[in-house]
Amino acid sequence: MTDVNTMYTLENLGFSKTQVSEVLLTLNLGGEVNAAPMGVRLSKRGLPIIRVYAGSRTYIMIKSGAKDYVLNVTSDPEVFYWAVLKKEYLRFKSSCRVTAPRIAGCQAYVECVLESVKFGRNYLRAELRPVYIEYVKVKPKAYCRVQPAIIEALVYFTKLKYLLSVGDLSKAKALLENIKHCENVVRHCTTQRKLRKIAKEILVHAEELVR
Ligand SMILES: Cc1cc2nc3c(=O)[nH]c(=O)nc-3n(C[C@H](O)[C@H](O)[C@H](O)COP(=O)(O)O)c2cc1C
Repeated sequence: MTDVNTMYTLENLGFSKTQVSEVLLTLNLGGEVNAAPMGVRLSKRGLPIIRVYAGSRTYIMIKSGAKDYVLNVTSDPEVFYWAVLKKEYLRFKSSCRVTAPRIAGCQAYVECVLESVKFGRNYLRAELRPVYIEYVKVKPKAYCRVQPAIIEALVYFTKLKYLLSVGDLSKAKALLENIKHCENVVRHCTTQRKLRKIAKEILVHAEELVR
């Protein structure tokens, strides 16, 4: 069982048994480091679980024996963007208790070891045990549609890549329309060039793939 305080802290950070929270998962296998956005839910025992689909670097590294992980918590869409399309921009720093590094600039870090892993037909399900949690206090912010729209566009983009890899062009085209909608939201809700550029680049990458 995870201890009560850990569970309390995880829930305060937004993790839940009833909904999926999006994090950047970092891991380390023999000096090779990777980071990717992943959904996390709490198991019945209150431990973070991830479902990782085959075909990703993360899947291969877990299957090959990666034993520790960090759930990097941030709502900054730029970090999600880097983790999908520009991994070389990510800045890492050391963790306290695990060999997997942290991504600099996040609001919370949940350092974990692997509790168990089960393999499905095209995915694995890993249950993680937190060993150290650190977070910064952040001031409340009014909801803005821009950041979620960028992260949503990235979800569609990664699904689109998968659909094309299995030859499902019609579903991929439908996802391209969703990405266009997200880009439209970003363009209308911010004048910040950096965020507009990120949304546009996701769309351009998606269009290049579907073409
Ligand atoms: C917000 C978000 C959440 C994601 N959640 C998952 C997930 O739970 N499981 C998964 O296998 N892929 C998920 N993905 C897709 C992976 O992050 C994506 O395939 C990524 O490119 C894998 O990187 P890698 O090959 O370096 O492991 C998610 C993507 C985004 C943008």
